[in-house]
Amino acid sequence: MCGIVGFVGQKQAAPILLDGLSRLEYRGYDSAGIAVITPEHTIDLRKAEGRLKVLNDMTDGGNNVHGCIGIGHTRWATHGVPNSTNSHPHMSEGGKFAVIHNGIVENYIEIKDFLIKQGVHFQSETDTEVIAQLLEFYYNECHDFFESVGRVLRRIRGAYALGILCADCTDRIIAVRKDTPLLLGFGEGENYIASDVTALLPYTRDVVYMDDGEMAILTKDSVQIFDAMQQPIEKAHQHIDWDLSAAEKGGYPHFMLKEIFEQPDALRHAISPHLRDDRVVFDDMKLKPEQIKDFTRLVIVACGSSYHVGVLGKYTLERTLRRSVEVQLASEFRYCDPIVDDKTLVIFISQSGETLDTMEALKEAKKRGAYTLSIVNVVGSSIARGSDDVIYTWAGPEIAVATTKAYSTQLAVVNMLALVFGEVLGTIDPTEYAQTVSELKKLPEKMESVLSHHEDIQKYAAQHFNHNSVFFIGRNLDYALGLEGSLKLKEISYIHSEAYASGELKHGTISLMEEGTLVIALGTYGKLFEKAQSNIVEVKARGAEVLALTTESRREEMRKTVSTVLTIPDTVDMLLPNLGVVPLQLLAYYVALQRGCDIDKPRNLAKSVTVE
Ligand code: G6P
Repeated sequence: MCGIVGFVGQKQAAPILLDGLSRLEYRGYDSAGIAVITPEHTIDLRKAEGRLKVLNDMTDGGNNVHGCIGIGHTRWATHGVPNSTNSHPHMSEGGKFAVIHNGIVENYIEIKDFLIKQGVHFQSETDTEVIAQLLEFYYNECHDFFESVGRVLRRIRGAYALGILCADCTDRIIAVRKDTPLLLGFGEGENYIASDVTALLPYTRDVVYMDDGEMAILTKDSVQIFDAMQQPIEKAHQHIDWDLSAAEKGGYPHFMLKEIFEQPDALRHAISPHLRDDRVVFDDMKLKPEQIKDFTRLVIVACGSSYHVGVLGKYTLERTLRRSVEVQLASEFRYCDPIVDDKTLVIFISQSGETLDTMEALKEAKKRGAYTLSIVNVVGSSIARGSDDVIYTWAGPEIAVATTKAYSTQLAVVNMLALVFGEVLGTIDPTEYAQTVSELKKLPEKMESVLSHHEDIQKYAAQHFNHNSVFFIGRNLDYALGLEGSLKLKEISYIHSEAYASGELKHGTISLMEEGTLVIALGTYGKLFEKAQSNIVEVKARGAEVLALTTESRREEMRKTVSTVLTIPDTVDMLLPNLGVVPLQLLAYYVALQRGCDIDKPRNLAKSVTVE
């Protein structure tokens, strides 16, 4: 996500803000900005697109911005393309408020419409600007900074970490947190806010992590913290003794592990903007129901793990829509003279939005008149801009080369697409629809429960990291899940691994089974559970050592065939892979750790493949 820094003290704020932001650069960003309250009681706002250096040069390292209280932000675009207008801080029209924000205001369109009707003029395309404008709107009524913030919080829906300045209250910053990290830092005659402790390490190691719903008022001499009911509370301080590199990774040894553990929150960000009164809606989608009904072909195109999401999408969309869905690797699609026309919907899936093959496949599909819809993580990326429609996954920046949270959020978007299209086409039973929506809501929590068993997987990896070859077997959704599990393992641990549709074992792979061969048998899909068990018996008979994955309700049944069983919570079929992928990611991670591999930067691989 984006980076937040705030400072109040006796020194010049701007150089400290810029230095703090520079320590958050590793998280990725596309623009940056600072706002400082001047000695004349106005807010001096400086923003720039691109690297922090541009902002540094513009402000002479902060030296030509005067004032001892300010907020700073590095933005990773969500609503609105990366440019200096859309970058933070955002100011209210009358110049009273400056706001920095990480997260998403889900109901910003409704609030923006309301404020426009009140005569407010907006500058940017962002959801954040509504916070600044709404603050001023309420402030004009009550003339109280704290009260205005409270009113805004009661009006907005979503996830937010906020740093707020008010030109009429020149001694304070107000900070707020809900579902997005924010911490308070304590110094001598100075105090800080930050989204990430890395920003503060040179200044203080005495911090308080804010909890959901909390607010804080920071002046140079005091920090008052309030709970969600705006009652004052006391919180224990923590001393941070991580070095810089550990702090960047939030205390995790690798970005990959951090990102694996960030998945429940990433899912919340991916799912919640599309849930409305127990229905899934894509407000920003241009595609009309009549067009959805008119498509005669659906094709999914992607590379790498995004392609694996596409393979799962094929199973899920076909089953839900009763339409044939094709999935193709972008590198193949672009050269196969694809049969697509104006009755075809082509869905492109890409974390980076910059993968060259996917981009070229998009151009090819457009040339042939297809309607193009992309599922992308990076806002404003080439694929997002080049498509007729885009759905963002809101996973936040992913730093480890091997994708985890981007995959999970792409999958959630595909699931939601199946529900939306199924409703339009009338092919989804209303009870199944309601049950799936209810399970979608529980998905982040269920994923947290899977993550809580990480030590079991770590122990297993410690005993099994020395295999030369591993096979993932499964049928249907479990086969598609195996493709991703196998890719994760091979890309970071360098162990040869293959995913095989269990029914195909007898047509080839079973000849490779011998004493001690490691087989990861995926049996989460209840409808084919018995078949999964039969295939396990077959490979065991050839000496394979099997680790099985199934759901909690089938654990005992699976134990009759395999002694080592991992489980995930039960859920509707469509969402089983969303949970099933987590143990496979952890297995790949811990095996690679045992083998001493460079986990975040595996050899020969790149995060974004922008060459052919
Ligand atoms: C690279 C990355 C993979 C990713 C693939 C497709 O190979 O290492 O993690 O799945 O590219 O990237 P995209 O950005 O298009 O999803």
